Amino acid sequence: MSEQIQMRVAVVGATGFQGGAVARLLTERNHRVRTLSRRPEGDRPPLPGVSCATGDLGHAEDVRQLFSGATHAAVVMPLVYEPEQVRRYARNIAEAAVAAGVRRLVYNANTRVPRSATAVAAFETRRIAEEVLRDSGVPLVVLRPPVYLDNLFSPWNGPALVNEGVLAYPLPADVPTAWLSHRDLAEAVHAALTVDGLEGRTFDIGGARTLTGEELAEAFGRGLGRRVRYQALAPRVFEQGLAQVLGRDAAAGVAGIYHYMAAGTDRLLLAGDDGVSAGALSVEATPVEEWVTRQPWQVWANDPEEQDAQTLT
Ligand SMILES: NC(=O)c1ccc[n+]([C@@H]2O[C@H](COP(=O)([O-])OP(=O)(O)OC[C@H]3O[C@@H](n4cnc5c(N)ncnc54)[C@H](OP(=O)(O)O)[C@@H]3O)[C@@H](O)[C@H]2O)c1
Repeated sequence: MSEQIQMRVAVVGATGFQGGAVARLLTERNHRVRTLSRRPEGDRPPLPGVSCATGDLGHAEDVRQLFSGATHAAVVMPLVYEPEQVRRYARNIAEAAVAAGVRRLVYNANTRVPRSATAVAAFETRRIAEEVLRDSGVPLVVLRPPVYLDNLFSPWNGPALVNEGVLAYPLPADVPTAWLSHRDLAEAVHAALTVDGLEGRTFDIGGARTLTGEELAEAFGRGLGRRVRYQALAPRVFEQGLAQVLGRDAAAGVAGIYHYMAAGTDRLLLAGDDGVSAGALSVEATPVEEWVTRQPWQVWANDPEEQDAQTLT
C-alpha cells in the first residue's frame, strides 16, 4: 500500500455531498486536494485545506487546470442525466487525467449499475462515463455504491423520523439494501486510491449489512432510542416532491432508479456483495445504529427543549 506517500488528488464535486466527504477524509490524512466549482468563492461551502478553482467540467481547459500536477483523482458525476453532457464531462476528465499522467483515478458511479442496458438515464449515463474513462487508458478503479444513509439525514426524512418515528423512502420494503454512509464511501475511495493492484477493477461497495425496510427501521429505532416504522413511498410521489427542489429533469433522473427498483426485476441490485469489496479494499463499514447515533437528529425536533438539549451537548 502506498498510503504513506502524500497524494495530490483532483477531486471532482468536492463542494457537494459525496465529493465533500472524500475531500475531508483525504485532507485529514494529509493528502493535498484540489477541486473545481462553478460557484463564486463566497458561495462555496467551507472546505478547510482544499484548494478550489473556479471552472466548469464542460470546459476542457478548466478540467486540465484541475488535473495539472495531480497524482491521483476521485470523480463523481454531478446531477446531470443528459447522455451527451455526461459524455463531454467524462471526456474532459479522461483527457486531463491522461495528460497529467495520474497514477490512479477512482470513479464513484454514485449508484449500482445493472448488468444489462436499461432505459434508465441514471444508470446509463454513469455507464457511459465509466466506458469513456476506461477507454482512455487511465488506471481506473470503479466504485458502485447502493444508496446513502445520509439521504435520510435531510429535511425530508429528519422531522418524520424524530417526531413521528417514520422512515419513509421510495424503495419497496422487501428490497435488500446495503445502506452506506458518505464517510464510509470516502473510506472506500481512499482505499481504492491507495491499495496496490486494484487497477481495472469494479466494486459494488456497500454498508456493513444488507437490510430490508423493516430491518433498517429497527436499526434506526435502536440508534434513536424510539420505535421507528418503515414506510415505502411510491416513486411517483417521491419524484413529485423532489421536482419542487431540483426541477423536473433532475428529479426524473434521480427517481428513475426508484421506479426501476419498484418494478422488481432486479431485486438484489442494491444488496451487499458478500464482503468482496470490503475484503479487497480492507475497509469495514460503520453499523447503521452507530451512524444514527452520530447524527444530530434533534435539529429536526418539534420540541424546542430537545433542540436545546442538542445545542448543549
Ligand atoms: N446513491 C445515492 O443514494 C445518491 C444520493 C445522492 C446523490 N446521488 C447522485 O450522486 C451524484 C452527486 O451527488 P451529490 O449529492 O454528491 O451532489 P451535489 O451535492 O449536488 O454536488 C454536485 C457537485 O458537482 C459539482 N458540479 C456540478 N456541475 C458541475 C460542473 N458543470 N462543473 C464542475 N462541477 C460541477 C458541484 O460543484 P459546484 O456546485 O460548486 O459547481 C458539486 O461539487 C448525482 O448524480 C446524484 O444524483 C446518489
